[in-house]
Amino acid sequence: MQSNQLVAVHCGELTKSYGSGDAQVHALRGVNLDIRYGELLMLVGPSGCGKTTLLSIIGGILDPDGGQCSVLDHDFQHMGTGDRARFRGGSIGFVFQSFNLLPSLTAVENVAVPLLINGMPRRDAAARARAVLDTVELGGRADALPAQLSGGQQQRVAIARALVHEPKLIVCDEPTSNLDHAAGHQVMAILRRVAQSPDRALVVVTHDARIFEFADRIAHMDDGRIVDVSGGTSERPQ
Ligand SMILES: Nc1ncnc2c1ncn2[C@@H]1O[C@H](COP(=O)(O)OP(=O)(O)OP(=O)(O)O)[C@@H](O)[C@H]1O
Ligand SMILES: [Mg+2]
Repeated sequence: MQSNQLVAVHCGELTKSYGSGDAQVHALRGVNLDIRYGELLMLVGPSGCGKTTLLSIIGGILDPDGGQCSVLDHDFQHMGTGDRARFRGGSIGFVFQSFNLLPSLTAVENVAVPLLINGMPRRDAAARARAVLDTVELGGRADALPAQLSGGQQQRVAIARALVHEPKLIVCDEPTSNLDHAAGHQVMAILRRVAQSPDRALVVVTHDARIFEFADRIAHMDDGRIVDVSGGTSERPQ
């Protein structure tokens, strides 16, 4: 058994339904899952099995109907809207399938957004954003607009934006599904490097079997439940 100090996210018997009556969909039917610090956990399963729903609850942007979800020792259920938004803004980074960059802002301006929201002065935020763009190998394209970047480059900007405030938890929903093989590998290699930190955890939803090799553990989901977790009994390969 892992001690609780090693668990970044704990989900216990999580349930979530959408709609009501005949139209009700049981998206989560009792999810049990722990995500450990220092690991990259992939969440895989057929379309509609509840992956995005689970990720949204872990990220604090959706409330479960029942069960527990504790994230970095915080329980969203016991937090007000303001505290929750501050906690999310400070401690969680999000990466989506469709990059979600602001089209009128340059790469460096997009990456600086979370810092500005957290109150950092503009110059400091821009300097920090440039440094993080360097780490995703985009230092030379910092002043480009999203439309001037390839898909893989845009996703790396989005990753830089998710990392810039040094969140302890990073949640990624299908981060490679709009990318070709080479760009997808480059994105995963960056996320893999990020997960190397012992006080950080990554959860990556994917359909993309080509990137399974980057996982420490793979949680298989089906019809609203985690049905198997593979890998991770031994030390993570360095
Ligand atoms: N806002 C919503 N209103 C109603 N039903 C929803 C809503 N969001 C999701 N669902 C339903 O809940 C179930 C789980 O959806 P979810 O998006 O979590 O699946 P997923 O595993 O992420 O699928 P995909 O791989 O296609 O992204 C599906 O049956 C879906 O139709
Ligand atoms: Mg989904």
